[in-house]
Amino acid sequence: MQKAVDLDNSDPLAHLREMFFLPEGMIYFDGNSLGAMPKAALGIINEATQQEWASDLITSWNKAGWFDLPTRYGDRLAAIIGADAGEVVICDSTSINLYKALFAGLSLRPDRHVILAEKNSFPTDLYMVEGALAARPGLEMRLVEDLAGTIDESVAVVLVNHVDYRSGRLADVALITARAHEMGAVVIWDLCHSAGILPVELNLHGADLAIGCTYKYLNGGPGSPAFIYCAAKHLPHVSQPLSGWWGHEKPFDFDTGYAPDAGIRKFLCGTQPILSFRALEAALDVFDGLDMAVLRAKSCSLSALFIELVQAKVPSLALASPTDAAQRGSQVSFSHPQAYPIVQALIERGVVGDFRMPDILRFGFSPLYLSHMDVVRAVDILQEIMESEAWNAPRFQARGAVT
Ligand SMILES: Cc1ncc(COP(=O)(O)O)c(C=O)c1O
Repeated sequence: MQKAVDLDNSDPLAHLREMFFLPEGMIYFDGNSLGAMPKAALGIINEATQQEWASDLITSWNKAGWFDLPTRYGDRLAAIIGADAGEVVICDSTSINLYKALFAGLSLRPDRHVILAEKNSFPTDLYMVEGALAARPGLEMRLVEDLAGTIDESVAVVLVNHVDYRSGRLADVALITARAHEMGAVVIWDLCHSAGILPVELNLHGADLAIGCTYKYLNGGPGSPAFIYCAAKHLPHVSQPLSGWWGHEKPFDFDTGYAPDAGIRKFLCGTQPILSFRALEAALDVFDGLDMAVLRAKSCSLSALFIELVQAKVPSLALASPTDAAQRGSQVSFSHPQAYPIVQALIERGVVGDFRMPDILRFGFSPLYLSHMDVVRAVDILQEIMESEAWNAPRFQARGAVT
């Protein structure tokens, strides 16, 4: 297809594909779940194990700077999500960081008791709110469809997914934040599906708190540590409940009482998974000097081409994402009653997307390692599967623990 060839020939990001391992012939549309492995991670993990762990052992906490990795890498991530150095720390998991962020938000509005969240939120976010409710009687969780339209003066914290994990719909950061602030509420952004794929611009929009993972578009590796952002203006006033020693102002004084660090380290709890941190360094290196607007432009171009081709060649799939690229993250979803076996048949043919309940085929587009010709080839394979009904084979019905 000439259009795809032309787009690839003028792609300013094409050279980045070489920075990643991808099996020959595989077209990987699951970077919105687990990003591809940066080749440089191998060398860094080697150094981290053979030199820092095997040889230097305990001295590496100082010598290799292990103790400061959460803030050192946090500063680098801050640049990717529109925050300043000192506002982001990398640590723990997204779910755990959300728990901290919820109470941090509540600590800024001690006279209020409502947490407003989306009915369609990624479930762990709501589970963590349930946990907060159990820990502090008197709190209320309000689940709504239209956040901006329902924020009132009883709301302490608004919890919003920047990109909906099912439909890929992009929330209006500016609108929700402005409305929340008008009503005196604090906003927590879940950036799992936007960090590393589009310009997030937290500080431009006057954001309060945000959390997210690094294993999707940021390519940090399976279970790589998550992050938490707190605007500098809030840092002196917030508290979080997981008051472990890594968040203490002087952890090595071994005082009996807890005194939080004055800065972003107050969001740390305990010892961090250093080997995972070290792998993340290779992922952050990829973003050095990268213009997020250029990344976004290619992401929109890839997903728009995918929609155009699927709608032309596979009409039995119904688009479950916004048609307008400006309203999408970097993911396109289609629905079909046989979504699960279709995804399995695609995977067997080297086209890797995923399935989400109840009937969604999800395709994520990472401009770092996908080309427009990958999109063309993938749609041809999808068309073949649908026309031959290859998905109907019994082996495609079996479900693993992880879908
Ligand atoms: C939007 C969103 N929030 C939260 C999470 C949970 O992250 P974790 O398992 O790292 O706690 C995910 C995981 O996929 C997610 O997509």
